Amino acid sequence: MATTGAEQIFKEFREHSAAEFFKKNRQMLGYSGAGRSLVTIVHEWTSNALDACEEGGILPDIEVSIKKAENNRYTIRVSDNGPGIPKNFVGKALATIFAGTKFHRYMQQRGQQGIGAAGCLLFSQITTGKPIFVKSSIGKGKAYSCHVALSTANNKPIITDMVDIDDKFQGLSVEGEFADIRYEVGEHSAYEYARRTALSNPHAQIKLTDPNGQEFLFVRSVNKLPARPPPAKPHPAGLGTSDLLDFAHVSQSRKISSFLVDTFARTTSNKISEIREVDPSIDMDEDPKRLTWEQAEKLVNAFKKIKWMAPDASYVVPIGEAQIKIALKNILNPDHMSVTERKPQVFRGGIPFVVEVAVAYGGNSGKKEAEGFSGNILRFGNRVPLLFDSGSCGISKAVNDIDWKRYNIDMETQPVSIFVNISSVYIPYSGVGKEAISPEDEIIEEIKLAVMEAARGVQRYIKGREQVNFNANRYKTVARYVKQLSGDISDLTKADRQKIEKKLEGIVSKHFPKSRDEDKEEATGQETEEEPT
Ligand SMILES: Nc1ncnc2c1ncn2[C@@H]1O[C@H](COP(=O)(O)OP(=O)(O)OP(=O)(O)O)[C@@H](O)[C@H]1O
Ligand SMILES: [Mg+2]
Repeated sequence: MATTGAEQIFKEFREHSAAEFFKKNRQMLGYSGAGRSLVTIVHEWTSNALDACEEGGILPDIEVSIKKAENNRYTIRVSDNGPGIPKNFVGKALATIFAGTKFHRYMQQRGQQGIGAAGCLLFSQITTGKPIFVKSSIGKGKAYSCHVALSTANNKPIITDMVDIDDKFQGLSVEGEFADIRYEVGEHSAYEYARRTALSNPHAQIKLTDPNGQEFLFVRSVNKLPARPPPAKPHPAGLGTSDLLDFAHVSQSRKISSFLVDTFARTTSNKISEIREVDPSIDMDEDPKRLTWEQAEKLVNAFKKIKWMAPDASYVVPIGEAQIKIALKNILNPDHMSVTERKPQVFRGGIPFVVEVAVAYGGNSGKKEAEGFSGNILRFGNRVPLLFDSGSCGISKAVNDIDWKRYNIDMETQPVSIFVNISSVYIPYSGVGKEAISPEDEIIEEIKLAVMEAARGVQRYIKGREQVNFNANRYKTVARYVKQLSGDISDLTKADRQKIEKKLEGIVSKHFPKSRDEDKEEATGQETEEEPT
């Protein structure tokens, strides 16, 4: 058999840009299936809008418009009232894969990767060949508009039709024309995405206009921006050698000791002394730019032998119990809800995260089935609804692992919603599409504890309600005899019939009270639970 030489084979050798890669692998960004692709576009642009408004210190007003265009195409526009994008950054921000203001910052935000916006553009180019139309404010009464496209060969932006306009518009508006997408209704729809975004962001106002022109307004129910999380410093526990080297080689510090103190959380001069004691062979006076793999490995091993304080919890800002209650009441209006907010925890040794859970029962909770209801899981990562890939998501795994029957909850038949939000400076999504959270042990454990705590609150509510129903039925049955009996006794004894009837009624209602004993339950319950007023 004839063999082929390396020279011949390597004639085929090529380099590829990130844009070419995702053009070929669009499913990795969430562009698979017409229904899902439409939601992905809404999701990327909406989460960017929310991030931008919050960073600008502005209460978000977001408008999502989905219109049917010719040839089975759709025009989607998302606009916000945020700070906008400076002209000289618009191409990089919206038309370059792996570029943005978030990836390099160790900070709790919705966006993490610098892919989302360019992914939307790539998808419009792939399906209709059209650029994205952008309008952005650039100061009082001034704005600009332009078209942005992406040269996939080199992952570079192409900006055309740039014009300055006198316009009072504040924020950013992005608009594109797409094919291979479809507006659907149900659990995996743009409507559901907007509804769940409103649930986890009660400080935002969201207007969705569907292809029939129908408007859905999710009004702001909290007039206060969430606290802005500060950029965190990475925690030394859980740090790998390669990461440590990357940090060291760009450090401005003169010595390794000051580099460690400046770069990492909880690293004080006392800790430097401890590291010295653990491994005296580490040269702390060396220039960090010259740190070798060997020395870095020694440092990482020393980190593992030291007791560190947990990362500062202020880096992570959860939605908060009060706001979750307001949002749930506003959107689900349940008969009962129990909310649990756990203390910050750490995964992979040093990444802080907080889990918060609500279990809502009745009202618009759960999923409407052809007959009756079933339970559903509302998953969120840094307040962003996760609608797809539930099968591979750590949140679903944790919730489904729970023996719900123990809590008198039947997820197959009852109107119950399990709301789970994870807040972190870094959410470990299992793919670039950011729809599922990787099942890290510490995260799964926390979710389970939080869900079980909230479930106990709902369990007491359900039990109490069952008791009330039981008592009411018994009361009804026994009360039927009261009238008859008091008449008979009165006839026999000549005593006052009404008095006898009242007495008998008193005895019956004592045995079958109409409401449960709320005080007793409050005294024993640890969970935060409340029935909406
Ligand atoms: N509505 C907006 N207003 C202001 N800036 C924006 C807006 N949308 C995007 N940007 C800027 O464009 C950058 C790129 O957005 P993109 O969605 O591609 O990445 P990201 O949000 O940083 O991360 P991810 O890929 O996880 O979404 C953002 O980091 C932000 O700086
Ligand atoms: Mg984004």
